[in-house]
Amino acid sequence: MADRPRVFVARRIPDEGLRPILEACEADVWPDELPPSRDELLRRVEGRAGLLTLLTDRVDGELLDRAGAGLRVVSNYAVGFDNVDVAACTARGIPVGNTPGVLTETTADLAWALLMAAARRVAEADRYVRAGHWRTWGPMLLLGSDVHGATLGVVGFGRIGQAVARRAAGFGMTILYHDLSPVPEEVERSLGARFVTLDELLAESDFVSLHVNLTEVTRGLVNRERLATMRPHAVVVNTSRGPVVDQAALYEALRDGVIGAAALDVTDPEPMAADDPLLGLDNCLVVPHIASASRATRGRMAAMAAANLLAGLRGERLPTPVNPEVYEAGPRSS
Ligand code: DGY
Repeated sequence: MADRPRVFVARRIPDEGLRPILEACEADVWPDELPPSRDELLRRVEGRAGLLTLLTDRVDGELLDRAGAGLRVVSNYAVGFDNVDVAACTARGIPVGNTPGVLTETTADLAWALLMAAARRVAEADRYVRAGHWRTWGPMLLLGSDVHGATLGVVGFGRIGQAVARRAAGFGMTILYHDLSPVPEEVERSLGARFVTLDELLAESDFVSLHVNLTEVTRGLVNRERLATMRPHAVVVNTSRGPVVDQAALYEALRDGVIGAAALDVTDPEPMAADDPLLGLDNCLVVPHIASASRATRGRMAAMAAANLLAGLRGERLPTPVNPEVYEAGPRSS
């Protein structure tokens, strides 16, 4: 049908999102497991009214220009949107959507799983058994750190950071947090969390969990100098974005016993190379960016990304825009 909007969907997403898009649009859905190459992506977006992108697809001025003046919406299938040049979209009057809220608890679950696994050396112990090293019960075998009663430092105290803090309360932990500003007192009280400076948080925490957006301010936030101020048994958990941690500095800190362990859901770059030095360390646990990867949550993210895409195509306000200022500029001239 002539009036069906033409959209590009940068990967197969769960049916909860794909179905409504296919019903309403003429959709080109990228079929491979790997993302399109940059050239292929630029070709595919040409003349499209809507784009559904993933965190692996860079959406910048060049891509927007290739899409052309008919582009009405970019819907990112993620809560993070550091792959999108939001200012370039706003300048062209294009709303950008993301998928906040629906993945909060699932992401916090994985952060918690990583924290527990790193503290109690679960992946290392599994490798030990598989390698045939388990000969007896040993008083000194694979000793880890207690999670209960320890101090958790949450860096970035938005939805996901707070959800991690809620889990920590069940383990009787002392909860410190740092963000640009403190959350309202009633939120602090309900979570039993205390606002501290980043320096205090790093110096006092047994576990540090990262939940900041990737920006020019947070890039390299956990660097050599800051790692040096942490406790020698401290565990760093990163479920935010890889570049928030200086990985070369992290490697040295783990190797030299400056800190105790790290558990990473995100790396820089992604995927992490199989011969990355971090993978040679028993005190570093790495999983492939799976924090939101539960069946239910990925379905909810798909439905939300589709809702943003379809709203944008109809010229309606996106349910979850990341650049609401785009609506303040008045109607778009094209
Ligand atoms: C996000 O949504 O930003 C996660 O990194 C992937 O779900």
